[in-house]
Amino acid sequence: MNNPFSPITINKLRAKNRIIRSATNDHLGNIDATVSDAQIDMYDKLARNEIGTIITGHMSVDPDLDRRADIVQLSIGNDSMISGLSRIPEKIHQYGAIAVAQISHAGSRGLQKIDFNQITTSELEQIAEWFADAAVRAQKAGFDAVEIHAAHWYLLAGILNADLNKRTDVYGGDADSRIKIVTDIVRSIKERCGKSLGIFVKINAHNTLKADNDLDLLIHYASKLRDAGIDLLDVSGMSFTKQPRDASCYFIESAKAVKKAFPDLTVALVGGIYSRETIERTLEAVDMAAMGRTLLTQPDFLVKMRDEDLQKSRCIRCNKCFEIYKTKFERCIFGPVNPKLEETFGTKEPADAE
Ligand SMILES: Cc1cc2nc3c(=O)[nH]c(=O)nc-3n(C[C@H](O)[C@H](O)[C@H](O)COP(=O)(O)O)c2cc1C
Ligand code: SF4
Repeated sequence: MNNPFSPITINKLRAKNRIIRSATNDHLGNIDATVSDAQIDMYDKLARNEIGTIITGHMSVDPDLDRRADIVQLSIGNDSMISGLSRIPEKIHQYGAIAVAQISHAGSRGLQKIDFNQITTSELEQIAEWFADAAVRAQKAGFDAVEIHAAHWYLLAGILNADLNKRTDVYGGDADSRIKIVTDIVRSIKERCGKSLGIFVKINAHNTLKADNDLDLLIHYASKLRDAGIDLLDVSGMSFTKQPRDASCYFIESAKAVKKAFPDLTVALVGGIYSRETIERTLEAVDMAAMGRTLLTQPDFLVKMRDEDLQKSRCIRCNKCFEIYKTKFERCIFGPVNPKLEETFGTKEPADAE
């Protein structure tokens, strides 16, 4: 089955097609961590252009705004955020897409850094509880699912990494202990939100620094997450910005191995999917294809592929989207200047901005 337009059921959720908008920090949030009109416009563009499942940019679960990843990251760490956040699923649902809230803790990459190796067991338990609190808020706001961000370089990904995790308590020492915090979060969300809220987990294909010979570890983590009751595993990787520009489907072999080991688990791949061919190749291996940069520069890519036979995104994978929002006030090198970015970053020294 490699037809991107075929529907799929992810446990109780019905997605109208196999395409996911991968979580993408848009930098369009308000400085007080609330949702902006510019963000609602962005979700409107994605949803009206037939993306079946839309995952928000990462939102901070920490109640302290100073521990967010950047000065415009949305917060889901406080009940007062619920009504503003509800504008996102409301917009996405207008077009029949699934709305997923990505929940995250920035850890050592936050404005105020937290080193997960240095904090106590009870402090880590508190962070796990914040993830579950955030899922309850996401459900109250009307989201269909949450995605626990356990990938890239954020707090949970660090704990899962066999080389970075130096803890000697229940959260470190071996693979079962490292995955425990994520499975604890999943179980707590299930207990508090019931079956109707979907639970996705984004994980790195490689959970060692050498990123070599560690497929068994990924399969082990996937088995524990499946046992805990997740609905979808989203396979990503720390190294997506370091890939050659013409590389594609960077982590497909790992994702394929997970799907082969657990045929009943819905598996998505993200990283280096930017054309009809890469979408179809992905869907030969796993259930869903997630795209970040392609939909950042062309939210209408899928519709153009379907209706105008567009074969390939204009994205050249230059990775300037990680910096130009605060210098040129554009989200992508192809523009346009975004008035909200200009309002936020135009009057500040770039050094203060993130
Ligand atoms: C500007 C930008 C912001 C991103 N923000 C997030 C994020 O908030 N959460 C996340 O899990 N991944 C984030 N990503 C990573 C994407 O979800 C995706 O994993 C990565 O871009 C690789 O996919 P691609 O090749 O389709 O771009 C971001 C990527 C970009 C380009
Ligand atoms: S800035 Fe570069 S990598 Fe980012 S979306 Fe635009 S073309 Fe793609």
